[in-house]
Amino acid sequence: MHSSAAYTLLLLTASSVYGNKTFNFITHPTQLVEAATETTAMNTTPAAAAANRDITIGPCKWAIGRRCPDADIKYYIYTRHNIMDRQCLHIAETMDKSNLTSSYFNPRHPTKILIHGYNSDMFLSPLQQMRDEYLAKDDYNIIYVDWSVLSPGPCYISAVHNTRQAGACAAQLVERLVESGNTDIHIIGFSLGAQVPNYIARNLNNFKLPRITGLDPAMPLFITAGLNDKLDPSDADFVDVMHTNAMVQGKLERCGHVDFYMNGGINQPGCTGWMINAFACSHQRATAYYLESIRSPKGFWGWACSSYLYYLLGMCPPTNFLLEAGDNVRAGTRGMFLIDTNDTSPYALGKWTDLPTLGVKRPRLPQPLPLQSVDPLMQHIDQFGKLAGNFNNKPDTAQTSQPYEHWTSYSPPFIAESASDDSVEEQDSVEFAEAEHREQLHPAFNWWSYRHNLTTGIIDNDIFGLPVVN
Ligand SMILES: *[C@@H]1O[C@H](CO)[C@@H](O)[C@H](O)[C@H]1NC(C)=O
Ligand SMILES: *[C@@H]1O[C@H](CO)[C@@H](O)[C@H](O)[C@H]1NC(C)=O
Ligand SMILES: *[C@@H]1O[C@H](CO)[C@@H](O)[C@H](O)[C@H]1NC(C)=O
Ligand SMILES: *[C@@H]1O[C@H](CO)[C@@H](O)[C@H](O)[C@H]1NC(C)=O
Repeated sequence: MHSSAAYTLLLLTASSVYGNKTFNFITHPTQLVEAATETTAMNTTPAAAAANRDITIGPCKWAIGRRCPDADIKYYIYTRHNIMDRQCLHIAETMDKSNLTSSYFNPRHPTKILIHGYNSDMFLSPLQQMRDEYLAKDDYNIIYVDWSVLSPGPCYISAVHNTRQAGACAAQLVERLVESGNTDIHIIGFSLGAQVPNYIARNLNNFKLPRITGLDPAMPLFITAGLNDKLDPSDADFVDVMHTNAMVQGKLERCGHVDFYMNGGINQPGCTGWMINAFACSHQRATAYYLESIRSPKGFWGWACSSYLYYLLGMCPPTNFLLEAGDNVRAGTRGMFLIDTNDTSPYALGKWTDLPTLGVKRPRLPQPLPLQSVDPLMQHIDQFGKLAGNFNNKPDTAQTSQPYEHWTSYSPPFIAESASDDSVEEQDSVEFAEAEHREQLHPAFNWWSYRHNLTTGIIDNDIFGLPVVN
């Protein structure tokens, strides 16, 4: 499917923002190309117009008709030979035209490709720390794709468009890696950067990526996109996704083989309080959790839940079917998982079954979104929280007014279970006190069969799936 719908949305938004200036009523890609030619003729020098057919509005640029290599998409490599000093890589359509082999790149070591998102660049602190963690862990080729020239703030809509170009060019990088004999390639994308691997995968002809990790993949403008225009399980042998700010900057919808909903996937603990942009903070936690997972002694362990609807109904209490999220995820696992974290670093809590609170824990129900009167599209997607006037989402003062409710204190309050009860299977019984009520809700639904399935790892793939009603 081609995304003419996406073009339409993009241009209609452009015309609503920029009034009757240039782009009113353009709804077809063919007209788009004509308009692009006119614009380049008007706004840029003849030399630049010959090189591409970009549309430029103010600081925002829509990459159109470009080729790869593209000077706006750069690659930098770090290895244990150059932990601090990045080497620039020139990547082109053949090995001869590229200088991969003259760098510290070693085809025998696994490669991690890190892709930043909107209004960001490769120096985003957690992405840099990820490099440190990986190189401390083992020998890796750490390669950054820097497409910041095509994804500056406030140009979210053009940045969405430019994910195609970033992906098309980064596919050349993957091709050169594979040609050199390097096939252990893992792409990690944050936010809008998590949509780039989709286009990398689409531009690879004879190679299927082994793994893509999406860290809170960006939602705005992707929610209605077809599978060809967003991250999905067809893009790699294994796609794992962490959701931390779903429905605001990230996506609620499942998009991997395995999707981890951190603390429910919408708000993150510790992201409330004075002077904190709750949305940006929750969004950025995806990178913080992943970063910690690389060498975490405890690990982020999630339990299976069969769908988000079950979760919203309070039907996903912790079970014994546990899976570690993050870098050490076991490839081949499928499903949706819920994970609780601590509210400050280190965030990992390990396996909930190992905690002294066993038997007390109740499922966390989604918290109401914090009240913030900010335009969701243009401001909440800002990775740095710059637009909220708070660069790193750090509180200026100690969070004394609104202490985070400790994660073990759930309602309903703790009810002592019988002394003979040493099974984690039993602890949710109070959640469903009204048997008749449950019957009304899902007449043919067998809760115990459902629980049995969860603990043995049989899970549906449908995020809003309803139990089958006969
Ligand atoms: C649209 O055109 C009208 C008439 O030329 C002009 O008065 C108006 O300011 C324009 N609107 C915008 C948003 O440029
Ligand atoms: C590769 O080529 C680019 C551009 O010509 C250059 O900046 C970079 O230093 C080269 N890298 C290596 C490792 O030779
Ligand atoms: C959560 O973090 C706080 C502060 O670092 C620590 O005191 C507490 O023990 C942690 N909780 C768990 C369950 O690890
Ligand atoms: C549990 O799994 C079995 C076998 O896959 C399936 O037939 C059954 O419907 C599942 N039960 C529920 C409640 O999902």
